[in-house]
Amino acid sequence: MDFEPKIVAFVCNWCTYAGADLTGTSRIKYPVNVRIVRFPCTGRIDFMLLLKAFDEGADGIIVSGCHPNDCHYTSGNFHARRRWMIFRNLIDFVGIDIRRVAFSWVSAAEGAKWAEVVTDTVGKIKELGPYSEYHQISKSFDGGAK
Ligand code: FES
Repeated sequence: MDFEPKIVAFVCNWCTYAGADLTGTSRIKYPVNVRIVRFPCTGRIDFMLLLKAFDEGADGIIVSGCHPNDCHYTSGNFHARRRWMIFRNLIDFVGIDIRRVAFSWVSAAEGAKWAEVVTDTVGKIKELGPYSEYHQISKSFDGGAK
């Protein structure tokens, strides 16, 4: 049986969420592997939620919001990008393959781009295989208690 990865997408309301909606209303097909979590802005995303998503069984993650200089709140996406540059070191440190996280900018007018981002991410995660390392890491920290 083919491996179907579970992808969690953390997106901003004003650009990527609207872009994903446009993908649907434009009837552009893309893999059904993604579950979207909507935030007011990428600047409001607590990147610890990425670890939580992996811990809860995600195989890959997409973080996406407005293009630089298009953030509804002026600079939220710049804050998110800076936070991500630091957080990626932590992800690497705890042993999560950095290729499991895709960071992208998708505007409300880019329904086709959203389909591309999801399709590319699903393809990449299928190549990497199911994610299980973090479960082992978190269990070793808490003695296996859940
Ligand atoms: Fe979209 Fe800030 S509102 S990134």
